[in-house]
Amino acid sequence: MEGAILALAAVVSARVLLTPAARRELGSRPMLAMLSAVLALVALGGAAWVASQVPLARRAMGGGVAVILAASFVRARPGFGARRGLPPGSLGLRESLEAIDDAEYYSRTSDRLGPIFKMSQIHQPVACITDLETGFTLFREQEHRLRQSDWAFNRLVPGGYLEYMDGEPHARLRGLLAPGFTPEAAEAADSAIAEVARAQLAEMADAASDGGVHPEEYLLPIAHAGLIRAVLGVSPGHPEYEALRERFTELNRPLDLFLPIPRASREAFDGLARTVSRLAAAAARREDRHDDESEGIASPSVLARVASDNPDLADDASAIGTLVLMVKEGGIMTRGMLRWVIKMLADHPEQAERLRQVAADPSELDGRAEAFALEAIRRFESPYLYRRVAEDVEVGGFRIPRGWLVRLCLAEAHARPEVFSDPQRFDPGRFERSDHAESFCPFGAGSRVCPGRDVALEVAKVTAREAAVGYDLRTVSDGPAWRINRHWGLWRPSLRLMVSLNRRPG
Ligand code: HEM
Repeated sequence: MEGAILALAAVVSARVLLTPAARRELGSRPMLAMLSAVLALVALGGAAWVASQVPLARRAMGGGVAVILAASFVRARPGFGARRGLPPGSLGLRESLEAIDDAEYYSRTSDRLGPIFKMSQIHQPVACITDLETGFTLFREQEHRLRQSDWAFNRLVPGGYLEYMDGEPHARLRGLLAPGFTPEAAEAADSAIAEVARAQLAEMADAASDGGVHPEEYLLPIAHAGLIRAVLGVSPGHPEYEALRERFTELNRPLDLFLPIPRASREAFDGLARTVSRLAAAAARREDRHDDESEGIASPSVLARVASDNPDLADDASAIGTLVLMVKEGGIMTRGMLRWVIKMLADHPEQAERLRQVAADPSELDGRAEAFALEAIRRFESPYLYRRVAEDVEVGGFRIPRGWLVRLCLAEAHARPEVFSDPQRFDPGRFERSDHAESFCPFGAGSRVCPGRDVALEVAKVTAREAAVGYDLRTVSDGPAWRINRHWGLWRPSLRLMVSLNRRPG
């Protein structure tokens, strides 16, 4: 009997360890994987020896393993916890690991179980909500019971990054910085973005001459050009620009939530914070700023506005650090969007042609390019919102216990056929006909809505415009989309994607 139980446990463990997500994780940390394997073998060997010597221990071990197996089995049942008010859905580890590779997991589970269901992100139970109204009502009405999650880069800034702050400190910092994010600050970045986008597209075209190029390495400089200009008021050509861009690129190295911050990341952050503080002090001292200024910072920009409203900004380490991380994190989000903008231009030459048809009318062209960017976001770059439950909450007749996460699934809400007809079709025209304001929230909503929305859209719009007008893009080869080995990773085009770019006359 004990042998059968242990064999069953071995089969169940092997099925978990053989999921692609588990194999990738172990493969990405070979030392840790080896250490865990050695420890597991030593523990199993020890247990087997004790079991062979002491029959009572053997029975206790068999009983213990049987209880763990039975508990895991029951917990993985979709109906687990129904009597305690928990939503339907499996908390099983295997389903959790499989969901990492399954782009349809949330929409399929929502179709099967309804718009509120539960799952696990490895060990962490999560209540998923795919209905925007239900999710935003929960966030608004029970805000005091919810918290933001943690993030590895929070440790760089006193008080953490704005997005992960709660309560009064969040309200103070948001009140200070948000007024700087005006549509004018975003629009003022148009020529900086266009200049860098043209240069990056030209480099891509050169690299693509031998049968295509993978766009990835060309995109971050475009995102940085928009953000450094719109947020910090520094254009390419400004004496500080190159140093800023290099340090932001350095700061992009991923950090681990539980490991110490590497020296290079700390130094890049500190250097950026010093520069931004100096620019803020200069901006606060100056009365007249104008766009072509080469020494101070340009206006309109977020920093120019916030520094002139708050003359002591340069000494506010929390605000300065958050501005630095806004450019860093905003750059990553914006680059993610550019990946899909370029891929959609290459996959849908007829949509690129629609942009060119209005090339003689700049405002019409910008309107169509923005609709193109919005559709790329709807299809591929709509994230999710997470909250940590600090006190039990009720939603849609279910109870979400303290300690769980809530995930409001924006991507799935943006693929509902009753709102977006033929939702899988890439159709930028739908955003020319309507802004879908009520049902399209890729930038969140309410008191935490994304302040970087206009800047991100400006970067995407200008890049789409410059690429469509300047080049014929075509997909040469492609493969399936992928994401990093995490439930919160956003999907990216295949690493096998190759795009050709042919310069258009004129
Ligand atoms: C495609 C690009 C982007 C997308 C899809 C996006 C999406 C979002 C979403 C959904 C939220 C709400 C998070 C929540 O409620 O928990 C958010 C918040 C935020 N975003 Fe963005 N974002 C983008 C670009 C940017 C950029 C360019 C910046 C900075 C310039 C930025 C800065 C922030 C900040 C600081 C917050 C936190 C706001 C707060 O909690 O008060 N984002 N973003």
